[in-house]
Amino acid sequence: MRVLVVGGGGREHALVDACGRAGHEVLCTPGNPGIAQQARVVASAQDAASLADLAVREGVDVVIVGPEAYLAAGLVDACRERGVPAFGPTRAAARLEGDKAWSKAFMQRHGIPTAAHRSFADLGEALTYARVQPLPLVVKDAGLRAGKGVTIARTHAEAEAALRDIFAQEGAQAVLEEFMTGQEVTILALTDGERYALTPPSQDHKTIFEGDTGPMTGGMGVICPFPLTATDLERIRAEIIEPALAGMRAEGHPFTGVLYAGLMLTPAGPRVVEFNARFGDPEAEAVLPLLSSDLAQHALDAALGHLDPATVHFRDGASAVVVLAAPGYPGEAQKGIPLRLPPLGSGEVIYHAGTAEQEGQLVASGGRVLAVTATAPTLNAALGRAYALADRVDFPGAQLRRDLGARIGARPDPRQV
Ligand code: GLY
Repeated sequence: MRVLVVGGGGREHALVDACGRAGHEVLCTPGNPGIAQQARVVASAQDAASLADLAVREGVDVVIVGPEAYLAAGLVDACRERGVPAFGPTRAAARLEGDKAWSKAFMQRHGIPTAAHRSFADLGEALTYARVQPLPLVVKDAGLRAGKGVTIARTHAEAEAALRDIFAQEGAQAVLEEFMTGQEVTILALTDGERYALTPPSQDHKTIFEGDTGPMTGGMGVICPFPLTATDLERIRAEIIEPALAGMRAEGHPFTGVLYAGLMLTPAGPRVVEFNARFGDPEAEAVLPLLSSDLAQHALDAALGHLDPATVHFRDGASAVVVLAAPGYPGEAQKGIPLRLPPLGSGEVIYHAGTAEQEGQLVASGGRVLAVTATAPTLNAALGRAYALADRVDFPGAQLRRDLGARIGARPDPRQV
């Protein structure tokens, strides 16, 4: 099969890697230097019509869309109009991620458990409400902010600052939510709109500093699998995934692609923190190395409306992703730092997230720069290998979290070093 992966970060590198492993010819746009070692990187304007035209010109069998911005821009719709199967939700269905106020209202309409909330289109009203809410208070930008539009405000002053930041943008909306406690877990459902297959549960680490402190990032590292109980898994299927897919069908926007359920395992059971409309990043870098079946075939089957969940398989074992971020991230990230990558052993892979080539030298070009991934029979072994590999990367000033897995009591096994 000829597959076009759209995007240029760590998630897309993992998508390219998974399709390549299954023996497909892989094209990618805009790609990155790591992707260029495994796929044909194709130059193209990045608007939906140009990308869909590219897919037609290149005769691709299926398009796999990575980042949410392309979904919100209608790339899947544009591909469908041209008769090219595309794996991802339409623009209307991608609203589940792109408009958090709409998404919360959708959950309410369909009885999907989530944090109590109120949405605001007016700064003054939001401030008045926020000032009398218990702390901590979750303040969310209703629009797309690359995973960084969320503040857990520990003081009313912090809540006010976050709201002022959101409303500094024209037409902004904010969602104010109750703070939920518990373990956070990500479940991804590959779906054709009706049938679905779940990936192993994983856990991202969203703040920049250890101990879950500091500002939110796009994600600083992932462990997989997260040890979910059979009861919680069954509740997630019955109370969250299935009502969400049924709700989207009932509202006339069947959801095809990857339904990302970001969940909190609260004392009252699993609740939705947020839905996203695509593979998580860096969750994809943890989950896809464990996939033993054919991602491109699943993408094509889902896009054509006949995904067979029984064909989706994951290997036993575990994976860990250590994100290496540039100094300054999640604020102004320092660019142009030279990178030198070590040789890789089996079960090790370094996905490029924010890299570029300058005069033949690999350099950091984004906030999250590398997703250092290892798989192993156990989670502790995977963590040990991922940290050992991260320590062999020459990236002056890199930021990383050394406490991945600590929330569930996992410990990097030093014997893997
Ligand atoms: N890792 C969080 C996200 O992909 O939104």
